[in-house]
Amino acid sequence: MIKIAVLGCGTVGGGVCQLLIQNAHDIAKRTDKCIEIKKVLERNPQRAYDLGLKEDQVCSSLDDILNDDEIKIVVELMGGIDFAYECIMKAIDAGKNIVTANKDLISVKGEEIFALAKEKNVDVCYEASVGGAIPIIGAMQNILCANTFTDIVGILNGTTNYILSKMYEKGWSYSKALQEATDLGYAEADPSSDVEGTDAARKISILGSIAFNSRCTLSDVYCEGITRIEERDIVLAKKLGYTIKLLAVAKERNNKILLFVRPAFVPLAHPLASVNDVFNAAFIKCDAADEIMLYGRGAGSMPTASSVIGDVMTICQNIANGTTGKLGLECYKVKEISPVTDLRSSFCLRLRVADQPNVLAGVASVLGKKDVSIESIIQSPVKNSGTASLTIITHPASEQDLQTAIEELKACEYVKKANIYMCLDMETM
Ligand code: NDP
Ligand code: HSE
Repeated sequence: MIKIAVLGCGTVGGGVCQLLIQNAHDIAKRTDKCIEIKKVLERNPQRAYDLGLKEDQVCSSLDDILNDDEIKIVVELMGGIDFAYECIMKAIDAGKNIVTANKDLISVKGEEIFALAKEKNVDVCYEASVGGAIPIIGAMQNILCANTFTDIVGILNGTTNYILSKMYEKGWSYSKALQEATDLGYAEADPSSDVEGTDAARKISILGSIAFNSRCTLSDVYCEGITRIEERDIVLAKKLGYTIKLLAVAKERNNKILLFVRPAFVPLAHPLASVNDVFNAAFIKCDAADEIMLYGRGAGSMPTASSVIGDVMTICQNIANGTTGKLGLECYKVKEISPVTDLRSSFCLRLRVADQPNVLAGVASVLGKKDVSIESIIQSPVKNSGTASLTIITHPASEQDLQTAIEELKACEYVKKANIYMCLDMETM
């Protein structure tokens, strides 16, 4: 019997309790141990009782867990940083192994947590912190670990993917789609971290650390969310044969790491274009395995519980074998972080310009001088405004060059508005 404690019985904690009951027999057979929830820490005990837990299993003080030598694994599912950090550090100090789904914490305090765990010879597992049910961390740290990774292009936030899919497929408004995602338990307690891209940025920083063996943190990630996307951007993308996805990207070139989260035009023929609703995916490029795409439910109670309990079961085996203290995230290299302007990609450039002679030539000339080559261009007049809308898809270009060209264009009296989207292409990979 392995006794565990669960901190937080919300969406994910509830799923963990349910799955441990639902699949108890197979879980016990596969780990050769029964897993028992000895204690849960929960502010609202009724929530725990509703999950079938008894009064003596529910506590309101962390000390009840820390002082219980029978508890070998602490599963942190409260979220947030300060209190979760305090609980995890104290639990490690008390010799307990940790499972967490908390990307907020791992992406900023991972280094300290993993260092203490190593010192105390305990495991810290965090599979559920990235991609919900997708076993991406396990795949990269285990079966793919012989490879040198160069690129990860992911759809790593279920809430925003749900919102973008519903806007694209069903024409839902942004606010209706966000409300649905929240009701389904996908969104964070503060959904601004989903829609502003921070949640995906946290996740890609974790994957970047694993892929490149060099510590990447949230502050290393250039981050743009989906709040600036308008319905007409979606209509335009559709018309051009693209869909819009919030991409989280980590790339290594010449020993430098580039990390960003931003909405991008994804060609409909690309496998990531068909990742819809709450599903997440990570497209990984590495030297031996070449290209791999992992796909699954990126959020939600039971999908996330699947990863959490998988981690618990792994630790059970390590406890049985006396091999704890080896799982974590050690980064044994230090690599420079590149600015996002080092990116080379195709872009979709949208300009609102005065509808008059020589404007097209002027735009082409500014782009040409910066070595930005045009792949296609569409001009449509905007009724009764004396202006036209220009949509330009570029060949792969340096973002730095494109940004400089855009600044120059914005200073031209005939350019009224300018914005860009990255387009996913093979060079971006
Ligand atoms: P919820 O808000 O649904 O659940 C959190 C639970 O923890 C609530 O019951 C909350 O109680 C309780 N809690 C929070 N702080 C404390 C505290 N100080 N003491 C006792 N109990 C506390 O969150 P989720 O289950 O959605 O998320 C949990 C973690 O899993 C987060 O780190 C999240 O980022 C991560 N995650 C979530 C996924 C999802 O699909 N929801 C997917 C992958 C990861 P109260 O309501 O009273 O605050
Ligand atoms: N809010 C997160 C998402 C939960 O929507 O992806 C999973 O980490």
